[in-house]
Amino acid sequence: MRKIILDVDTGSDDAVAVMAALLAKDLKVEAICSTWGNLDIDHTTENTLRLIEAMGKGDEVPVYRGCAAPMAKFLCKDRLPLAIRPLMKDGKEVHMHEPELKLEKATIKEQDLPAPLFYIDYLLHAEEPVTLVEVGPLTSLGHALRIRPEIVKNIEEIVIMGGGDRVANCTPCAEFNIWADPEAAEIVATCGAKVTWVPLDATHAAYLTKKDCERFRAIGTFEANFAADLIEGRILAHTLGQPLAEPDAAAVHDPLCICYLIDPTVLKDVQPVEIHLGFYGVGEGETIVDRREGLITPNSYFAFDADRFKFCDILCDLFTY
Ligand code: BDR
Ligand code: CA
Repeated sequence: MRKIILDVDTGSDDAVAVMAALLAKDLKVEAICSTWGNLDIDHTTENTLRLIEAMGKGDEVPVYRGCAAPMAKFLCKDRLPLAIRPLMKDGKEVHMHEPELKLEKATIKEQDLPAPLFYIDYLLHAEEPVTLVEVGPLTSLGHALRIRPEIVKNIEEIVIMGGGDRVANCTPCAEFNIWADPEAAEIVATCGAKVTWVPLDATHAAYLTKKDCERFRAIGTFEANFAADLIEGRILAHTLGQPLAEPDAAAVHDPLCICYLIDPTVLKDVQPVEIHLGFYGVGEGETIVDRREGLITPNSYFAFDADRFKFCDILCDLFTY
């Protein structure tokens, strides 16, 4: 059984990732760390707690609250603000991530230890290596690695949803999780662990459609129906703001990392590359993917593509129990 720690900014697609991870029989979720990102840290923490409680797993998985802001960028007044154009439908604003998941308020509580200290404590004392699945800004892990870089010895692999080579979303050249904290991303990318990137190139190739949501609904479990609700919301937001290869489709980024752990062949065209991140100017948050043979020292595996049919099949299997 592979042990994982999830780091999430829940978030619509994060919620699908949390459900997938908690249902995967071959994965043991040791803990979930929340981080700021899609929403502020209060909302991402509460959403995470209410989701695991709704799944009946509130006693099984501890939740650690992560950082409320990036390591450095908000201190630098000349860094680019994020230009957000509101998405409108019939006079109403449409959000990729509603502030609150439509579930009962959580009665379970987060742990006292903050996420960066949890990483340090867990990884210093782990008896076997653990895989970290990072699907939000990398702030908490960045801090932990800065304080105790030797924790890397107990990291089996870091799977990052983030970055993009030919695809960007929040600026012309940046993906959101990396744009949100490029310094933390650089620390993680260069920490010496095995790092696998699941970037926008892969997640946009693995889009899900309304038809896929119908498949989920036919399964009928709480997780299948809730995933369909969340993905249909994302389809509307994508249609208005980021149309994909097919109409009525959405990228559902974060659970692709979980599906990769279940079946690595869901990612395609995975190549060893050297990754660094852009910090300033128009290149802020850019994933600089260097694949110049003979000139680079690879620090990462980068998925340039993914199999959308396999992705949907794996999710269906997970939601069927
Ligand atoms: C990433 O940013 C967030 O909005 C999503 O949850 C995903 O992790 C995609 O750019
Ligand atoms: Ca996320």
